[in-house]
Amino acid sequence: MTHIQEIQVNDGSHFPSIAFGTVNVKGAHGLNDVLTAIEAGYRLIDTSTNYNNEGMVGEAIRRSSVPREELMISSKLPGAAHSYDKAIQMIQESLYRIGIDHFDKYLIHWPLPKREKYDEAWQALVDAQKFGLIKTIGVSNFLPEHLDRIIEKTGVTPATNQIERHPYFNNNELVEENKKRGILTESWSPLGREINDVLENETIKNIAEKHDKSPAQVIARWNLQNVCLHVVKASNHIHQQENLNVFDFELSDTEIKEIDGLDKGEAGRVEGQHPNEYEEFD
Ligand SMILES: NC(=O)c1ccc[n+]([C@@H]2O[C@H](COP(=O)([O-])OP(=O)(O)OC[C@H]3O[C@@H](n4cnc5c(N)ncnc54)[C@H](OP(=O)(O)O)[C@@H]3O)[C@@H](O)[C@H]2O)c1
Repeated sequence: MTHIQEIQVNDGSHFPSIAFGTVNVKGAHGLNDVLTAIEAGYRLIDTSTNYNNEGMVGEAIRRSSVPREELMISSKLPGAAHSYDKAIQMIQESLYRIGIDHFDKYLIHWPLPKREKYDEAWQALVDAQKFGLIKTIGVSNFLPEHLDRIIEKTGVTPATNQIERHPYFNNNELVEENKKRGILTESWSPLGREINDVLENETIKNIAEKHDKSPAQVIARWNLQNVCLHVVKASNHIHQQENLNVFDFELSDTEIKEIDGLDKGEAGRVEGQHPNEYEEFD
């Protein structure tokens, strides 16, 4: 089993620097995927109410031989629950679904700025943390103006901001904005979700060959060396293990710059989900 290096966030908590992503990880097959991921060494599970799999994640926790205290569960508030009372109830409902008494981390999934309720939602997370329902609170897909608004309104800075980040959309400016505010970046779809061909990219393949590693492992290093938490999904057991086997090599600054150079700007987003425009289904 691989031991994953940890990263500290601004509330003093530590998280594994690699999380197991669960988009489309559902039902009995999904349960098996989460169990094998835990066996391989993943300890931080990234889910969301919108993934319709919180119940399955709870079942995996119960069936796993790893004690609950050694696992970290992170979920996300859906857009339909941005008003304060709904947010508190949603957090409680998600905890009941999973069968745990607190989240190790919990994020607002999308800001939905057109609905103008994300600051209310943030106040609910701040209070839910005080009630003991959540240990670490954060956000996802927040732009600098959204971050500044919730910090100004509550005086509380999110611990993490989970954002789209992969070599074709490196989001480096937002990573820097997060850093400036003491917020850890979590990278979602780091392998491009098999929608783009980043794993076939020649530059990445060449770097991978030099290190005798795979393109997916090179992208993990690119995230880790930029102090970004790598949130990666893999159902294939070999992929699951490969994605953790990344602590025995380092990319040079030149290699990191080469990967940064693959950025395609807005055109590089996997599904064109700009946080100011994207509206979650609810
Ligand atoms: N906050 C948000 O708004 C947001 C949005 C999107 C995603 N996320 C989170 O981020 C997680 C990761 O993103 P994602 O699921 O979209 O996609 P991803 O992790 O970028 O890519 C997953 C795909 O890559 C393949 N893969 C994994 N490891 C591989 C390896 N070593 N070699 C070759 N292929 C490999 C997987 O195949 P197999 O499954 O066959 O192994 C799967 O098809 C999500 O699951 C979710 O938890 C959050």
